[in-house]
Amino acid sequence: MAAENPVTERPLINISDPAQRDTLAPWTYLSSEFHALESELFKTHWLLAGHISSLRERGDYITYDAVGERALVIVDEEGEVRAFHNVCRHRGARLLTESGNCKHRISCPFHGWAYDFNGSLRNVPLPETFTDLSKEEYGLKPLPVEVWQGLVFISFSTQAESVAERLKTVTDDVVPYKIADMDAFAPGYDDLRPYNWKVIHDIDNEGYHVPVGHPSLQQLYGLSYSDRIEHGIPISDATISDKPAKLWSVRNYQKLLPHFDHLPEHRQKSWWYIGLFPNAVIALYPDMVEYYMTIPVSVKETRYIGQQFVLADDRRETRAARYLNNRINAETEAEDESFVLDMQEGMRSSVFPEPTLSSTEMGVHHFHRKIQSSFPVARLRDEPAEGTLRAVNVRLEGGG
Ligand code: FES
Ligand SMILES: [Fe+2]
Repeated sequence: MAAENPVTERPLINISDPAQRDTLAPWTYLSSEFHALESELFKTHWLLAGHISSLRERGDYITYDAVGERALVIVDEEGEVRAFHNVCRHRGARLLTESGNCKHRISCPFHGWAYDFNGSLRNVPLPETFTDLSKEEYGLKPLPVEVWQGLVFISFSTQAESVAERLKTVTDDVVPYKIADMDAFAPGYDDLRPYNWKVIHDIDNEGYHVPVGHPSLQQLYGLSYSDRIEHGIPISDATISDKPAKLWSVRNYQKLLPHFDHLPEHRQKSWWYIGLFPNAVIALYPDMVEYYMTIPVSVKETRYIGQQFVLADDRRETRAARYLNNRINAETEAEDESFVLDMQEGMRSSVFPEPTLSSTEMGVHHFHRKIQSSFPVARLRDEPAEGTLRAVNVRLEGGG
């Protein structure tokens, strides 16, 4: 498969223009005006909203909130997965919260308007008090939804390309994991973190920091780790080392990890990761699969959400491997959290550098350029004057 290297691609911008740069400047992580603009990314892309294990039965639902939009995903009477804006057509109340099962209808907690699982408005209390209320016109507003390999994606806008089409470069490799047959392992997390959402992706889009920043990962797979971009999808691939690690959790993970008959031989010792622009990562291990994602709340606050999934497997070695996997990843995450906090803080420094990127940090470049290609104002070295950002962006979109 041909891999792209965005570092060597022709630059999007005029590099010789001293006002522009081909990585994101610190102001794009600190500006509320830019935050308001880039939030559009979350309205124009497919977003990972959950896993099919929460949507097995009629009436099962999940909810998803991002950048002011609210979605609900529900299994209808025919077993079909549907998505709607989680906004009552009467006065906008939130219809469903978190996840669960609707026994009968989707019933609004405010005044009791009730909708079928296919979104049709069925019941309005005191209907005679409304003038010309046609129930046919007040069904829930539908949203695009797609289930790919057990992962549920929604979008707040019409999508030209399906998730399956976008991810076809990895599909054959993902199918053997049987993600759709998995169930949630440990309780998921949904934490509010004190930094801009992009910082976390700057760090997880490159493995150049693994040898120094992540001793556990380095001992587990460091020498084999590599990043690449395939058809626009960032992929990181690593193989568990045969050399016994010094660290207890890594050494025992290496020793106890059993054979998984559903996986091909080349994935028996593989830890690999798929990046989903703008905000999610799928991590595939032999013993489990995990996803995590960021959702911006403000320019300096981010929800960090994740969940692990496993196939039923009662073997003692599998249970031990999953426990050790969690320990290794908890250490890694604590290390990354400290890098993220330091980097966010460093962006306020007057000498915060324009990154000098190694070719192994192509993922950072790719991520920045995806944002710059959506919002040309993000190519600017300096923040536009207060109140002018949108106008400057429009001017640059026009090539001005
Ligand atoms: S807002 Fe839902 S019934 Fe009034
Ligand atoms: Fe990391």
